[in-house]
Amino acid sequence: MELDVLVVGSCNTDLISYVPRLPKPGETIHGHKFSVGFGGKGANQCVMAARLGAKVAMVAKVGEDSFGRDTIQNFSENNIKTEFVGITNAAATGVAPIAVNTEGQNSIIVVGGANELLASEDVDAAFGKIKSVKVVVCQLEVKPATTLSALKTAKQHRCITIFNPAPAVSDLSPEFYKYTDIFCPNETETELLTGLPVTDVDEAKKAALVLLERGCQKVIITLGKDGAVLVTTETKTPEHIPVDPVTPVDTTGAGDSFVGSLAFYLAKFPHLTLTELIRRSNNIAAVSVQSNGTQLSYPWQKDLPNDLFI
Ligand code: RIB
Ligand code: NA
Repeated sequence: MELDVLVVGSCNTDLISYVPRLPKPGETIHGHKFSVGFGGKGANQCVMAARLGAKVAMVAKVGEDSFGRDTIQNFSENNIKTEFVGITNAAATGVAPIAVNTEGQNSIIVVGGANELLASEDVDAAFGKIKSVKVVVCQLEVKPATTLSALKTAKQHRCITIFNPAPAVSDLSPEFYKYTDIFCPNETETELLTGLPVTDVDEAKKAALVLLERGCQKVIITLGKDGAVLVTTETKTPEHIPVDPVTPVDTTGAGDSFVGSLAFYLAKFPHLTLTELIRRSNNIAAVSVQSNGTQLSYPWQKDLPNDLFI
């Protein structure tokens, strides 16, 4: 099997409630709309890269249940290879109850289930069947040990590794930086990892340098409506890459849209500058925040302007 992108990570079923505001502890509020969708940070990133036209496979684990079967079918419908998606009867498919308020902000609970059973052996088995792969993408919704071993194996195979340290943790093992080419957190993840505030572009630039010092090759901090900040070991000068303003409806999975797009571009447009790849990925994530749902809001290549693909 020859691939552009391999994603090692989670699959969840998103149970999304649209609410006027996020509930406080102990409070019951009325929502006005509910929907079920395909989610999980790994799956989202994988679907985004596939919809843009990358040749993609997913390494994941689902339960032997209807959510798991639907998840696999959804991968197939998105032209994603599913032979490395294992099915276990020891746990249920991951779920994510999500609340989205009228500003498009969300809060998410993730119940990992089968995702927690994805093991480094599963990753090794997949690499054993892959002849070549350009970009490997990981997050933190499966066991950290599985993610770390996936990044290591990917580097042994000379792949470009993108690591999205999400959901946020404060105690990330320093080893993760060693095997990561592109370290890609958002503001909150960066705050937890560095202990520094990230409330504007200048603070993001400072924090990016701190992360770079930990040993990865490149750091991209995503900043929502403010675009992203990039710093690399080559220049060590943080650069701000802005994005055109849009009116957000639902920002769930926007970060995943960015990471999946970036993986697509690194595999398919390696001759362009990273700054340009980030600019294009930001544009695609901006499309995703303008409609409801996670994967539901991800565009296909045919729905996007042609100048994003030349
Ligand atoms: O990043 C968004 C994703 O986080 C959702 O799809 C949900 O499943 C959680 O994993
Ligand atoms: Na959306």
